[in-house]
Amino acid sequence: MIYKRSSELFALAQKVIPGGVNSPVRAFKAVGGDPIFIKKAEGPYLYDEDGNKLIDYINSWGPLILGHAHKPVIDAVIDIAKKGTSFGTPTEIETKIAELAVKMVPNIDKIRMVNSGTEATMSAVRLARGFTGKEKIIKFAGCYHGHSDSFLIQAGSGAVTFGTPNSPGVTQGTAKDTLLAKYNDLDNVKELVEANKDEISCIILEPVAGNMGCIPPAEGFLEGLRKICDETGILLVFDEVMTGFRLAPGGVQERMGVNADIVCFGKVIGGGLPVGAFAARNEIMEYLAPVGPVYQAGTLSGNPLAMAAGLAMLTELDSKREIFESIDKKTAYLHEGMEKVLTENNIDFTINRVGSMISVHFGKEPVTDFASAATSANLGTFNKFFHGMLENGIYIAPSAYETWFISDALSYEDLDKTIETVDKVSKTL
Ligand SMILES: Cc1ncc(COP(=O)(O)O)c(C=O)c1O
Repeated sequence: MIYKRSSELFALAQKVIPGGVNSPVRAFKAVGGDPIFIKKAEGPYLYDEDGNKLIDYINSWGPLILGHAHKPVIDAVIDIAKKGTSFGTPTEIETKIAELAVKMVPNIDKIRMVNSGTEATMSAVRLARGFTGKEKIIKFAGCYHGHSDSFLIQAGSGAVTFGTPNSPGVTQGTAKDTLLAKYNDLDNVKELVEANKDEISCIILEPVAGNMGCIPPAEGFLEGLRKICDETGILLVFDEVMTGFRLAPGGVQERMGVNADIVCFGKVIGGGLPVGAFAARNEIMEYLAPVGPVYQAGTLSGNPLAMAAGLAMLTELDSKREIFESIDKKTAYLHEGMEKVLTENNIDFTINRVGSMISVHFGKEPVTDFASAATSANLGTFNKFFHGMLENGIYIAPSAYETWFISDALSYEDLDKTIETVDKVSKTL
């Protein structure tokens, strides 16, 4: 495939945008080469500036669970845009999406809309601190919660890819309030809780991790965290920015049957427009301004365009619940197919999957936390694999630390083509 115009556009972009991209993971720094510039997309396909058609396994990094330009979402946005894009006043549609989210997600009474996943997790932590009166938080190495200061202590995803786990600009003062634990290691959490008695406001985690590849919680891990929190008054915060409205209508809380105290959303809840949200039971949400003392605000929060896209998306997912089964089946099909061809080609690999999140690691050992994800990252093999797939029209995330996001728009033909391509490419690894 030819990517000439993409490279020309990238050269122009680099003159006026740092690194030519508005979010680091879009650059191909980890895998080498120039990023692909996309002109339009429909269903499971991206169409780039050189006229190439690509099967998409990123789906805007998760939001587009029903594929690109999904008609009900696009129609809703066009319709509402004609009536004005933002008023800075309450609108009925904000209540409608809140009602639907509260209905779909277990264990929440109220939800506050923001504009990104970063804002959602940042606000959730402030709320947890305000509610408990404690300042420290526990986060897990390799879990990514957006780019606010408290979380850039050792982040997964982009920050790891670029080898800057501790970003300059984050103060020592902020860093000292963030305690880092090992994912899937309850004893490690217990040690931290014990060593910081009565100082911890919340434990925040991706309940199924997606920023060090896809890493499922070990059996009993989420339940164990719930128990620690119940015994100590620490709040359990699920960052369901990736998993919310994807792994089940009610996210991981529903799929794995463990309740969180605060839940963060992003991605799918915005249907492809910039939306994040955080939610909890009344007792906690009433700590939030204007009812309570914890301040949080946003000029464009809950704007009609974003709410219309989000409402159309959630309405689709709520009214056609078979989508969740369909997408899980498609991902299982891809999993089995890739497993077969990688085995036949004698490749060392591990595939992790939960529902419609899946990742391929080029190492034999189980990938259960950040350390094992890093060991299995095998960047040389991954980079060859990535470029081989791209050359054959399959677009996966340009980083060994990312999960693939499956959309229900993918047909079994698309999946077969992908498996055939994995077969072809793995012969070259
Ligand atoms: C689990 C998780 N939390 C938070 C974020 C941050 O969301 P955003 O990029 O919308 O700020 C991300 C982004 O990928 C994420 O994966």
